[in-house]
Amino acid sequence: MLKITVQIGDITQAAFDAVVVNLFEGVSAPSGATGAVDRALEGAISALIADGEARGREGEATVLHTLGALPAKRVVVAGLGKRERFGIDTVRTVSAVAARTLRRLNAKRAASIVHGAGIGGLDAAAAAQALAEGAALGLYTFDRHKARKADEPTQELEELVLLEQDPARAAALQAGVERGLALAEAVITARDLVNEPANILSPIALATAAEQVAEEAGLAYSVLEPWQMKELGMGSLLGVAQGSSNEPRLIVMEYFGDPEHPDNNVALVGKGITFDSGGISIKPSAGMWEMKGDMAGGASVVGAMKAIAALGPRINVLGLVPAVENMPSGTAQRPGDVVKAMNGKTIEVDNTDAEGRLILADAMCYAVGEKHAKRVVDIATLTGAIVVALGHVATGVMGTSQRLVDELLGASRDTGEKMWQLPLFDEYKRQLRSDYADIKNVGGRPAGSITAALFLSEFTGPAEWAHLDIAGTFMSDRVHGHVVKGATGVPARTLVRLVERLAADG
Ligand code: BES
Ligand code: MN
Ligand code: ZN
Repeated sequence: MLKITVQIGDITQAAFDAVVVNLFEGVSAPSGATGAVDRALEGAISALIADGEARGREGEATVLHTLGALPAKRVVVAGLGKRERFGIDTVRTVSAVAARTLRRLNAKRAASIVHGAGIGGLDAAAAAQALAEGAALGLYTFDRHKARKADEPTQELEELVLLEQDPARAAALQAGVERGLALAEAVITARDLVNEPANILSPIALATAAEQVAEEAGLAYSVLEPWQMKELGMGSLLGVAQGSSNEPRLIVMEYFGDPEHPDNNVALVGKGITFDSGGISIKPSAGMWEMKGDMAGGASVVGAMKAIAALGPRINVLGLVPAVENMPSGTAQRPGDVVKAMNGKTIEVDNTDAEGRLILADAMCYAVGEKHAKRVVDIATLTGAIVVALGHVATGVMGTSQRLVDELLGASRDTGEKMWQLPLFDEYKRQLRSDYADIKNVGGRPAGSITAALFLSEFTGPAEWAHLDIAGTFMSDRVHGHVVKGATGVPARTLVRLVERLAADG
């Protein structure tokens, strides 16, 4: 990953391949560091502004050659957008765009001022954190299976130096950078797992990847095999798994940040369908490839656990990932089959493509029944219906604990990963009534995301529970700011932030 360091110094005196300064929209005479660089360049930046070439629009990057007027070879003027819209999320975007511009210029070592920490009025540590997140995530590529690499830069950006004039600020900036890089690493871990195809990332391979993360991070790791799931009565999970020749695994990662208080805990349960063909209720072939990412919830849990271990909050966190492949075959479960979950409830499998809720049911029973989770948050690419409701902009939040939902919404505002709540009114429950079992796994077309969540609520026991439906947000089809094409890594950063907030409250 990109190396980011903090140095005290003057940007006009710094010898780098390129230096990054910034500009608000509507400013004609730049001040601060941008003003100093402008003066050293004998007004070249002001001239570009006057000619309308540099407008300071958010996401704009204007490149100037210094031709010996500065020790740095090039200057990148990064647009900050309108001052009244400027915030911490703008810093992530601007930093990502600047970093990609530096890569395109084949810069190896570059320096940047900390956007927002000066006239932007942001807290120095928070600005440095957002800058680190934006740069590290904006440069993300997944090209391990390609001979010709994306963008074909002849030189990767190796080091970004944050230049600050005021020595009193260095410690805060350094702390912000470290937090930002830890969070970026969580997201990158998640993205890599989601982008990996299902022929490589089987349930067992996902478990091996999680084990490696746990080992490096110092987390406890264990895994349940099919015979153990059978003993525990996980008939709902095993029903989904039975169609695939790839065996399922239940991945268990544990962080003990408050060992004296075992009840001060939260479980993060991530859907880990390594491929969702739909099973016997098979999906149409167009776009089915995206279902290699149907373990995005699980991937975000693995990534978040890594950052949680690095940041060390005072709370115990259980990370669970039921890893299963949903395939049609002669051994696959059929529509109409009745299975029994770990809590004894029977389920009529009306549609084998509503498999996520079936594996999460048993995983949550395990979290509450065996691991005594007091709070449970599940994360899942659960329903196409959430894309109809919220598009690709926001993750759906539902839950039986408004307190936990509110903490999630608060964490989401902290990270910029947008979330929006949907209701779980009792009136929707009748859609899940079955003639043959305690409950049916689908509730028909109306309010599909809500009935899916209500199904899950039957398996949370006495725990406080909230649910994130990320089917609309786990992948992106375009580059925008720190989000690149492909897996987004959502909501890894928000999960880390949630855990920190719960630790502070408890
Ligand atoms: N993994 C899918 C949901 C999904 C859809 C995720 C699009 C990402 C993008 C899930 O397992 C599924 O198939 N859900 C069905 C449920 C239906 C059968 C009740 C759906 O949404 O169509
Ligand atoms: Mn499905
Ligand atoms: Zn699925």
